[in-house]
Amino acid sequence: MTEPAHRSHWTNRWTFILATAGSAIGLGNIWKFPYMTGVNGGSAFVLVFLACIALVGIPLMMCEIMLGRRAQRNPVDGMQLLAAEARATALWKWVGIMGLFAGLLILAFYSVIAGWVLDYVVRAAGGEFRGIDGATAQARFNAFLAAPLELILWHSLFIAMTMGVVARGVNSGLEKTNKILMPALFAILLVLLGYSMAVGDFARSASFMFTPDFSKVTPVVVLSALGHAFFSLSLGMGAVMVYGSYLQRHVSIARTTLFVAIADTAVGLLVGLAIFALVFANGLEPAAGPGLIFQTLPIAFGKMAGGTFIGTLFFLLVAFAAWTSAISLVEPAISWLTENTRMTRHQAAWLIGLTDWVLGIAALLSFNVWKDVHLLFGLNVFDTLDKLTTNILLPLGGLLMALFAGWVMRTHHVQEELGLASGAYRVWRFTIRFVSPLAIAAIFLYLFGLVK
Ligand code: PHE
Repeated sequence: MTEPAHRSHWTNRWTFILATAGSAIGLGNIWKFPYMTGVNGGSAFVLVFLACIALVGIPLMMCEIMLGRRAQRNPVDGMQLLAAEARATALWKWVGIMGLFAGLLILAFYSVIAGWVLDYVVRAAGGEFRGIDGATAQARFNAFLAAPLELILWHSLFIAMTMGVVARGVNSGLEKTNKILMPALFAILLVLLGYSMAVGDFARSASFMFTPDFSKVTPVVVLSALGHAFFSLSLGMGAVMVYGSYLQRHVSIARTTLFVAIADTAVGLLVGLAIFALVFANGLEPAAGPGLIFQTLPIAFGKMAGGTFIGTLFFLLVAFAAWTSAISLVEPAISWLTENTRMTRHQAAWLIGLTDWVLGIAALLSFNVWKDVHLLFGLNVFDTLDKLTTNILLPLGGLLMALFAGWVMRTHHVQEELGLASGAYRVWRFTIRFVSPLAIAAIFLYLFGLVK
């Protein structure tokens, strides 16, 4: 397929891998995965999540990169172009449109949490955690949530940081940032893990996360695990598709996917192990909810020798991880705007940044002044944004992409793009045609039945 002449590309395979890993590894792994595991009964959630990564996540990530690279366009025009190539209806572009909006909605609540993280970097560095006990940590966190102005300040800073990178473009913005931040993140993670292994209750943490207990597997646990598999791998909304569209032709999609999926899953599991080891060693509550890392980790950091340093490093790590994910959340919208309007990347970044700034303020007010404002299913604004995107829009986007690649596209086009040996291709194709769509659809149907 021909491509627009002016389009940027990743410098090489590794910058693509780093950027995609940077997109995947984020608050999803460090903030959300541990707290969801804690809330959903530990191993029940972890095991279903791992199954979702293998059966749905990995095949779909290959699918999304494949769609992006073949189209060499933003997700909206890309889907339309691929549909035309397959002589199918142009309505498929709605998969791209839905994804573009999903990204904006996700960034709105994502930025709020990233703002908390930035605040905690400063608290950690200022030695605020020294000798802190559980009640104080909780009280400080609650007081912080009750002060909207402070939350707005940090949220604004995070949006500005994100848009600052996005405005600079693929090579000097996205690529350069990921090249520096991702290796730093891995290094800091290893330090934290080493520490937690030395002083935490690792055995208890491992048994909490991995000893199978299927009595706790409920439909809600399954949907949450599926949604989180999408969220964690950045799937279903076009982030991976647009990154794939900047990828050169000769790179193996299967190998890069495996690398990213394994790195992402490993980071989630390792952070989970490290956090629960500290939680159990300090007699803290694993099911504390979204505040988990903010309420429990300061106590651990406050007790350990060098805790000010390690704590600062940890929250810095989380901020880096969030930053590299946030830029991918808006890239579908930015690429669509720059490829369809006269806007420059700078102008597009301003527009999206302002939109998300406003939406994010609505989300953060859920923790204080708008505590009692409820939208969908009685959820507040923050939870509505989270649940609507994670549990519905992302799996739905993924379902449609799988159907498109498996049933609409010409199979020789798909195979040409994926470059798999024929045996491997057949396995992938079977999964993408039957296993992934049926798994997603079954979970949706079951839940809609339940809602009745
Ligand atoms: N994968 C990111 C994380 O785990 C979040 C994300 C979701 C990024 C969807 C892009 C698209 O934090």
